[in-house]
Amino acid sequence: MPLLEDLEQRLGGLDGRRILVRCDFNVPLRDVPDGQPEIADDLRIRAALPTLNWLTERGAAVTACSHLGRPSGTPEERYSLAPVAERLGKAAPDIALVENLRFHAGETANDPAFVDALLAGEVVVRFGGAATSMPFDGYVNDAFGASHRSHASIVGPPQRLPSAAGRLLHREAEVLGGLRTDAKRPFVAVLGGAKVSDKLGVVEALLAVVDTLVIGGGMCFTFLAALGHSIGDSLCEPDFIETCTRLLGSGANIVLPADITALDAGGTVRQMGRSLPDGCCGLDIGPGSAAEFDDVIAGARTVFWNGPMGMFEDERFAAGTRAVAQSLADCRAFTVVGGGDSAAAVAQFGIAPYMDHISTGGGAGLELIEHGDLPGLAALRDSPHQ
Ligand code: 3PG
Ligand code: MG
Repeated sequence: MPLLEDLEQRLGGLDGRRILVRCDFNVPLRDVPDGQPEIADDLRIRAALPTLNWLTERGAAVTACSHLGRPSGTPEERYSLAPVAERLGKAAPDIALVENLRFHAGETANDPAFVDALLAGEVVVRFGGAATSMPFDGYVNDAFGASHRSHASIVGPPQRLPSAAGRLLHREAEVLGGLRTDAKRPFVAVLGGAKVSDKLGVVEALLAVVDTLVIGGGMCFTFLAALGHSIGDSLCEPDFIETCTRLLGSGANIVLPADITALDAGGTVRQMGRSLPDGCCGLDIGPGSAAEFDDVIAGARTVFWNGPMGMFEDERFAAGTRAVAQSLADCRAFTVVGGGDSAAAVAQFGIAPYMDHISTGGGAGLELIEHGDLPGLAALRDSPHQ
């Protein structure tokens, strides 16, 4: 994969060169009454700075671009990158920023005409830079979190311009891709989150490489149902019970919660075993499970964690997720936290500094583990301009 140094060499230096950097500034936003939305977590902005600074230090004129949310191909003010521009302006003042790429239908449609317009500088820079129509000299993909999307700004530019992987993209690809091939054993994966159906591909891929797969979160109830437990009103995907039965019978080492923190029909929080009566809804793993998961994590040399153990936004159901986060912080293993909710949990519980790698990609990380490659990585490798 071409790196920043390769791009520098290919362009004969970067001084005065116009470089387009695709970032993933799709940050979580918090609504503010009567005001512009606020950035709830700026991990994705901070993580892009090493690449942006490296380029500007070498004299490049850098324009960043990104999507935000899922607008439907036309401008929608609530998806404006304005809050990102403000934050970025403080951290890296010399960077221009294009408005949300998904304000153009050509982005998600991977329309070649949109790629051309973007690289010709015709997609107007909205923040921190003059509106120009000068073509770019080079392209950098540092948008790991969006590199599972075959969208115009991810897969188009490497076909047309000298291109490189940014520092973030390179590190993410190395760490998450490396889990499939180079993880030190015992290798333990801890998966949570609401749905089995979302994670089936990654569950199958992980079962082929891990020593132990620990399952919590909403998705554990379909597995518990497959074992014949009554799960009350807990989240369940009946269409996937058969799949869970097959996975449990595959001889793989799968650890499920032995106890559950649940909300009963009367609205009381209760500690239960594995079987829940009707009207009772499991919303977190119980303390016994947290202790058992801790034993498994403590014995690992590599841990990958994706997905909360319960509804941690509600303090009554945060203990399981907090315990797993603490187990990762305390263990001696190389710890990798996969994006989205688990990264937010790690930040919320103040243990981010104790993790070895916190990924900026949720879906992208899971797809990289599942398939061993992503469209954005392949596009850089296959670039004819190297
Ligand atoms: C993400 O946050 O998952 C990435 O930025 C990709 O966004 P998307 O799922 O809307 O394509
Ligand atoms: Mg996503």
